[in-house]
Amino acid sequence: MERLRIQGRSHLVGEVTVSGAKNSALKLMAAALLAQGTTVLHEVPDILDVRYMGELLQRLGCRLDADGGTLRIDVPSSIEYEADYDLVRRLRASITVLGPLVARCGRAKVALPGGDSIGSRGVGMHVAGLARMGADIRVEHGFVVAEASGGLHGSTILLDFPSVGATENLLLAATLAKGTTVIDNAAREPEIVDIAEMLSRMGAKIGGIGTSLLEIEGVEALAPVEHTVIPDRMVAGTWAIGAAIAGGRVAIRNARADHLEIVLDKLTRAGASIQPAATGFEVRMERRPQAVDIVTLPYPGFPTDLQPMMVTLAAVSEGTAMVTENLFDGRFRFVQELARLGADVRTDGHHAVIRGMPLLSGAPVDATDIRAGAALVLAALAAEGETVVSGVHHLDRGYPDLVGVLHRLGAQVMREPDAEFRR
Ligand code: EPU
Repeated sequence: MERLRIQGRSHLVGEVTVSGAKNSALKLMAAALLAQGTTVLHEVPDILDVRYMGELLQRLGCRLDADGGTLRIDVPSSIEYEADYDLVRRLRASITVLGPLVARCGRAKVALPGGDSIGSRGVGMHVAGLARMGADIRVEHGFVVAEASGGLHGSTILLDFPSVGATENLLLAATLAKGTTVIDNAAREPEIVDIAEMLSRMGAKIGGIGTSLLEIEGVEALAPVEHTVIPDRMVAGTWAIGAAIAGGRVAIRNARADHLEIVLDKLTRAGASIQPAATGFEVRMERRPQAVDIVTLPYPGFPTDLQPMMVTLAAVSEGTAMVTENLFDGRFRFVQELARLGADVRTDGHHAVIRGMPLLSGAPVDATDIRAGAALVLAALAAEGETVVSGVHHLDRGYPDLVGVLHRLGAQVMREPDAEFRR
């Protein structure tokens, strides 16, 4: 276990190059299972979650070879169909192998992911959708067990809510189903567009990409392709909000401003100036931010994954902000840690009211999940004095070379063993 020791009151000045999106890369790795042969992914981020997904694919019989940001996945003609709890609990995205396994093997047994520190992580829509496609599917002894020995068939599925994971699982399964599948009220996050585009190049027939109505005509087989993962909008967004919190000037390279429209709009309202720059954009903040309200919603709404950073921004802003969280019931748990730095945050159900303070003060805090961890690091940069953030392994799940990036932006940060954990 390790922790970060951060000296506060440090502006961020410099450049960050964003790697491929975690939440795209993990699903593209699962999508590779649909085609026998070698899938090659470029711009795969060097993060723990990618390693865990790699281990899962190996367990299913694939051979993996990583070289820098390029990952080769060799998928044999016959793959295993079971994903154990020891792997799934480390990585909830592993539920994404469910759809490809049922489609390829006619059966799957995948451990239920369970909840985590951001709240419950239901899979009811994944299960109901596959059942409509003809799978005999049940949850037993902590596993989702699915069988479709005669193959899946197309169906019309109306999702109760535009779930990212359910849309992905059903989209992946539908590519090899007999007939046409319609997914209505589908999620339309950029990562889903990325997956759909790779699948199309593999030979899948998908209409309505980027909309909430996906129409997939099943094909007999898919062929492996080479694909470059889209830039990580959560990493880009984290550094953009970081520049607004700590003040300074950060050029964010390999970033898609069009994937962050609402986030950049909120930062502009908070007083930041945002300019397009080579392969990305630049964020400048030269004064104390103004409080801005946000409401998290499925894309193109404000992303829940950047909510903790916006709460942190509000904590140092002038005025009072209201933040509404609509996706995860536990996503405000981290405000107790932010309060240790002096933030004034009150939560009531899925609302938080944040009264901005002129200055936070450094203290020991604990990162409870990846995004909460990132928010605490940004808070530490703005606080007066020293902050020690433990639980850095959560940040390693999604932020490649975190300390290197912070150093390049001029922050004073040290990574060290967590003595509390050694005891
Ligand atoms: N939900 C259900 N039943 C379902 C599916 C979802 O109740 O069958 C609920 C969930 O419990 C949750 C909400 O719907 O409360 C949203 O879930 P969704 O399926 O949209 O999210 P996810 O696929 O579990 C992905 C990202 C999250 C991101 C959300 C929302 C990955 C690996 N994870 O999760 O990213 O917050 O979409 O955009 O893609 C992160 O990267 O830190 C992260 C948590």
